[in-house]
Amino acid sequence: MSLNLFWFIPTHGDSRYLGTSKGARAVDADYLRQVAVAADTLGYDGVLLPTGRSCEDAWVVASSLIHATKKLKFLVAVRPGLSTPGLAVRMAATFDRLSNGRLLINVVTGGDPTELAADGLTANHAERYEISDEFIRIWRGALSGEGGDAGFDFEGKHLRVKGAKTLYPPVQKPYPPLYFGGSSEAAHELAAEQMDVYLTWGEPPAAVAEKIADIRRRAAEHGRTVKFGIRLHVIVRETNEEAWQAAERLISHLDDDVIAKAQASFARMDSEGQRRMAALHGGRRDKLEVSPNLWAGVGLVRGGAGTALVGDAETVAARIREYADLGIETFIFSGYPHLEESYRFAELVFPLLGKGKEQGEVSITGPFGEVMATDIVPKKAA
Ligand SMILES: Cc1cc2nc3c(=O)[nH]c(=O)nc-3n(C[C@H](O)[C@H](O)[C@H](O)COP(=O)(O)O)c2cc1C
Repeated sequence: MSLNLFWFIPTHGDSRYLGTSKGARAVDADYLRQVAVAADTLGYDGVLLPTGRSCEDAWVVASSLIHATKKLKFLVAVRPGLSTPGLAVRMAATFDRLSNGRLLINVVTGGDPTELAADGLTANHAERYEISDEFIRIWRGALSGEGGDAGFDFEGKHLRVKGAKTLYPPVQKPYPPLYFGGSSEAAHELAAEQMDVYLTWGEPPAAVAEKIADIRRRAAEHGRTVKFGIRLHVIVRETNEEAWQAAERLISHLDDDVIAKAQASFARMDSEGQRRMAALHGGRRDKLEVSPNLWAGVGLVRGGAGTALVGDAETVAARIREYADLGIETFIFSGYPHLEESYRFAELVFPLLGKGKEQGEVSITGPFGEVMATDIVPKKAA
């Protein structure tokens, strides 16, 4: 199975250390472009752009990166209920055309009622999943031209459209693929019935295997199959010892009261996925390796994806293969800071996964390793 390796566009900030402004850097248009260009030239298949009030807007940022990149796909997070389905459909079709078929959609139901209410969405967890379900039915119907010339009609409990159609269709047919994450039963059911790729945050392999089995079973009941992806941070170094030191360094300026505040904030959410992430460490910094080479330190303060694969390149590649053996095809990684770590991960781990450019061939047309004296070109490493 060939793996899809994605990176992450850090629209909610970037730093060398968690929980402090020490070592932080400004995330502006130039920096976002640098991260995207790095991911594109290194051979990542795509990048994830998150959504939420803590982020720069995913559509606006992704649009700004289309012309800076060539092959990179953009996994753009969309929250059903925040815009009308018709507007979302048009934005998706336009983006897919302007990027020549490089749009992927991450359907995000949302798990923080306080934030959602501030954005104008006051539905509870169950209602939000009903809205997502209806939103995606309309989205699919309108983009795939259901209803023909008359357009697509839909009358749901929360959403309705009459004669919805896409005059300028997307490049990808019938529509850009739908990715989706969520760990509640309602989420599993929606994934099974309507989504193309189910994403999980980086839980231990046994827990991921259970989720995959449950969604496969539910999908089979609908006569469907679903693909799987995982979202993880990665801390890879040339030795295991260095990698674990880097993990410790990442939280070396993190105060206990900051951890407590973050945990209290997670506790007010109704996201089952967030609950499962927080339960991995329980707010304690003394038991962070929650499964071999899976470190929950990021989740002490970061919402959402809270675990990292930690180790040397061989170890990290082996853990990736372990998840791949469970059926995971898409891996969405990130590391702090995102620019440097996109290089480090690609250079150390891609070759072990048969991914990216054949590094040795780069030297045919340009420098590959610094030349010695003025004329001695370094030999290709074995
Ligand atoms: C890979 C992945 C990416 C996600 N990205 C976002 C995001 O950008 N913004 C957000 O608010 N929630 C995000 N989520 C959260 C889920 O979309 C979902 O809304 C949340 O987990 C609540 O659903 P649940 O109770 O079913 O777990 C993401 C989840 C996963 C697995």
